[in-house]
Amino acid sequence: MTVTSVYPLALTRPKAPTDPLAAKVYLPQQDTELLVDALRERGVTGASVLDLCTGSGAVAIAAARLGAARVTAVDASADAVTYARAGAERAGVSVDVRLGDLRRHVGRYDVVTCNPPYVPTPDVSDPEYHLNGPSHAWDAGIDGRAVLDPLCARVPDLLVPGGAFVLVHSEFADEEESVRALRAGGLHAEIVDERVIPFGPVMTARARWLEERGLLEPGCRVERIVAIVAVAPGDAATGEAARTPATDHTEQQTS
Ligand SMILES: C[S@@+](CC[C@H](N)C(=O)[O-])C[C@H]1O[C@@H](n2cnc3c(N)ncnc32)[C@H](O)[C@@H]1O
Repeated sequence: MTVTSVYPLALTRPKAPTDPLAAKVYLPQQDTELLVDALRERGVTGASVLDLCTGSGAVAIAAARLGAARVTAVDASADAVTYARAGAERAGVSVDVRLGDLRRHVGRYDVVTCNPPYVPTPDVSDPEYHLNGPSHAWDAGIDGRAVLDPLCARVPDLLVPGGAFVLVHSEFADEEESVRALRAGGLHAEIVDERVIPFGPVMTARARWLEERGLLEPGCRVERIVAIVAVAPGDAATGEAARTPATDHTEQQTS
């Protein structure tokens, strides 16, 4: 196993530049890489892993490549599920990819990962702020926490004792609030890594709106993304022991 073998861009590259499905799925970016790096740092050898909001499946495939014993991936987008299943097959790894909402997934895992939608989103339909593309992958309500809040509330019920949650998002969705919410759920949570990256197309489109709300220094076009690790109380905290078979299921989307 080499570092490049879990590099997300290489794992989930579209079959062809014109692959129409790829345009409907969030392809791996720097937040994906930060999550995979934090996961690698944590170690998943022999672990059961749940990747919520899997998108292209890059993180789930990386977990399998890093030696996880069992990988489940969930996304609310049927296009993402199709794309992730094909990606896992091409990568030659076993990932159980399911269609569903993270709020309704049931089971217990050694490691849960998530790169959720987290971009603050204006509640007006002005096309200046809204790009074409899979907006379900980034639009996250006025404060960027529409998915993060239910996610942080749900995660303690998805971890075995000593299990770890690895989360990434940007400063614009308030990383301290995530740490607080995870601690309120009984987890030991801390920021373990961060990177400053240039704005991508979505943040560039929203920059003026963020400036007007006083959330962005005028002219600033970089953001800090963070990786948070939150560990459940219990005695399997090394990440290498007490692998627990989980009885899990994902309720199907009804809408
Ligand atoms: C930022 S993308 C992350 C993709 C991938 N994990 C990565 O790191 O590149 C967020 C994904 O979350 C999915 N999503 C949004 N809300 C969801 C929910 N409530 N339950 C499950 N998946 C959801 C979207 O369909 C999208 O694929």
